[in-house]
Amino acid sequence: MKTIVAINASPRAQWNTGTLVREAARGAEAEGAEIKLFNLYQLEKYTGCISCFGCKLAPNEGRCICKDGLAPVLEAIRTADGLIIGSPNYLGDVSAGFRALYERLIFQSLTYRTNPRSYNERKISVLFIMTSNTPKEFYAPTGYQSVLKGYQKSLEAFVGNTKLFIAGNTLQVKDYSRFNWTMFDPDAKKAHHDKVFPEEQKQVFALGAEMVRSPW
Ligand SMILES: Cc1cc2nc3c(=O)[nH]c(=O)nc-3n(C[C@H](O)[C@H](O)[C@H](O)COP(=O)(O)O)c2cc1C
Repeated sequence: MKTIVAINASPRAQWNTGTLVREAARGAEAEGAEIKLFNLYQLEKYTGCISCFGCKLAPNEGRCICKDGLAPVLEAIRTADGLIIGSPNYLGDVSAGFRALYERLIFQSLTYRTNPRSYNERKISVLFIMTSNTPKEFYAPTGYQSVLKGYQKSLEAFVGNTKLFIAGNTLQVKDYSRFNWTMFDPDAKKAHHDKVFPEEQKQVFALGAEMVRSPW
């Protein structure tokens, strides 16, 4: 049986990012995979890389030795057949939780040699989901696209081939009338959420299924 690790890097477990991560995981599950789901903001305390270089010395080359809340997540990824990871767009980048995991995940595999560059020879399919207020079509002009491409490039080099899925124009809160947010049209937000978000759930479900059926 294949194992897929699904990670929600939003502090909100049940909102946009969490929903899409779970739907992608459900797609993988429908193809017979076992799912290991982690909500990064519900783990024990953790940090990003602490620069101890334990992962560069025998007997732990290629393995982060830091024993905190992220240790079980890194261990699960190590033996998984696929990785689904979702982050909200925070200030044009990933969330701090995502970034902490990303530092640990990528740096542990970096050999600091030209050949091979990566300790990790067991590549797996990765689905990287990002949700944001910004609509998908604005990712190129705002520069968000190049930020995402940077993450994609490193994930591909050290974890495995990576597909990006952007869900833009998300409903950020249930009740916009509580806030004086003149930038948003709450009715348009709600209409987009009701029409497009269910479609996006179907699309990530299909990608999760594909990850198991025909890994990329
Ligand atoms: C701290 C913070 C920073 C944000 N920065 C951006 C941003 O720079 N661009 C953007 O499009 N949306 C931004 N957003 C909106 C979220 O990316 C968006 O609402 C996302 O779908 C939230 O995911 P969630 O529902 O899973 O929590 C920000 C939200 C927060 C809380």
